[in-house]
Order: sequence, then structure tokens, then C-alpha cells
Amino acid sequence: METTQSPSMNQSELVKVAELLSRSKNTVVLAGAGMSKESGIPTFRGKGGLWTINGEPPLNQYEIFLDDPKKWWSEKFTPNNKEDSFATALDQSKPNDGHNALVQLERLGIISHLITQNVDDLHRQAGQISITEIHGNRYWIRCIACNSRWPKNSISIQKDLLPPRCEICNGILKSDTVMFGEPIPPNLLQDCHDATRKADLFLTIGTSAIVYPAGQFPIMALEKGIPLIEINPETTPLSEFTKINLRGPSGQILPELIKLISENQV
Ligand code: OAD
Repeated sequence: METTQSPSMNQSELVKVAELLSRSKNTVVLAGAGMSKESGIPTFRGKGGLWTINGEPPLNQYEIFLDDPKKWWSEKFTPNNKEDSFATALDQSKPNDGHNALVQLERLGIISHLITQNVDDLHRQAGQISITEIHGNRYWIRCIACNSRWPKNSISIQKDLLPPRCEICNGILKSDTVMFGEPIPPNLLQDCHDATRKADLFLTIGTSAIVYPAGQFPIMALEKGIPLIEINPETTPLSEFTKINLRGPSGQILPELIKLISENQV
């Protein structure tokens, strides 16, 4: 497991956040790539980020898919010997202490909903129940017409019948992971909207919060006067608006919060 050095964790700020969490019955979380850093998955931006190193992928990925979905699917069946260290990191990853702490906060009745931008499935594997994977899940398939989703391993895709079609509406199936240029399924946006509207506390964890529409939910919380907490070793454009910033890796800070809450220190 990869570890990140924690910049001085401020105990009094930790206690304040633990107090806010203890009183909350409706905390909503927006999580991003930093959440999975201690699981060995690189972030996208910043030092060591996937795109900092490789550059951003083409912005018209979805257009390319729509132009020729058969070709896109055929390529999935073509053996590819190119090394993909990101895919390897995802394949080898396991939930870390941060993911497990969020599950505990859900079980304690504190977190009511988690909006994750991560496609790595780690929140689900850790046992989080109320979750919106706003950028999809790499182990799922989705119909682009009716937005139904299935685990990849539950459907059989025939190489000679591409692109695969939805058994409900005959729409085209694609990987659930949202491509650049692809609209987020409206039902997912509605779920995030509904959860944020009911929140009494909003946490952003491990996200630069600059990608929209996901980034609109902490802003919506701010506009509604809901206290916003950020957990991130670095500052983000949201930092100046947050009530408290906990600077450090989520895999260390979240378990510290659980400890304070469960020891009844707050
Ligand atoms: P980013 O790479 O933009 O931001 C990751 C954040 O994690 C940064 O603010 C880091 O400072 C922070 N971070 C780094 N290490 C951390 C740690 N150990 N603990 C906590 N935080 C840490 O990733 P996202 O905000 O998730 O979308 O990016 C959002 C979207 O951009 C992604 O979902 C992806 C991309 O477009 C799609 O692929 C559709």
C-alpha cells in the first residue's frame, strides 16, 4: 500500500470536524481520485498525475464512439500488448483505510450519500451502500439510450454481434465509464442533486473539484449554507470557501476521525 506523508495534521481542526460529523445525520461526500491514492492508483492532475505525465485524452472520445461503436467494441476484442500501468494499478487495487472509514460513517448513520467520481469500484468493494458513481464504474456496462446498467461479467458480448444491444430497449451498450464529451446520465445527476439538497454537512475528499457537473454539488451546498469540509493534502479552488480544511491524505485523516467519534471524545 502506498503512503503519503501527512503535512502536520491539526488536532483541534480534526476534533471540530469529528464534532460536526457526530451531530450530522445527513452528510454527503464528493470523492475523487485522491481517495484511491493510498490504494496505489495515481490521481489525474498534480504531481505524478496520470495526465500530468501523459497529457489529457482526446476531448471527443464520446463522439468517436458514437461515430462507430462497432469499431470501438471490436478494438476491445483485439489483443493489445501495450503496457497500461494505470489499468494495472486499477486491477491490483484494494480499498484502503479511507474507503473503510467512509463505510463506518455510513453505518453510524452519519453519511447519507456518497457521490464518487472514481470508476475504480473501491467504495463498493469496501461496502458503501448509498453511492452514485457519477463517472461510472469500470466493471459495469450501460445502455446509452435507457441508462440501464449491468455488471460486465453478467452479460455475454458476442464478437460477431457488435455493438452489443440493450435487452430492454435495443439501445447501444458501452462501458459505464463516462468518456470525455459524454453527458452524465440525467438520473445520476438527479440523485446527486436530491442528496445534496437534503445534506446538513458536505465533505469533499481527494478531489480537485474542478470537473463539472460533479463540482457543482459542493457549490450547491455552499449556496444553501451547508458547511463544507475539505480533506486534501493540497489546496483547491474550493479551499477558500470551506469551513475547515483538513490537510493530509484521506487514508490517514478519515480513520483519525472515526477514532475520535467512536472513542466518544467529541
Ligand atoms: P484530480 O486528479 O483532479 O484531483 C485529485 C485530488 O486528490 C487533488 O486535489 C490532490 O491534491 C488530491 N490528493 C492527492 N493525494 C491525496 C491523498 N492521499 N488523499 C486525499 N487527497 C489526495 O482528480 P479528481 O478530482 O477525481 O473524470 O478528477 C475529477 C475527474 O477528472 C475524474 O473523475 C476524471 C477526470 O476527468 C473522468 O475520467 C470522467
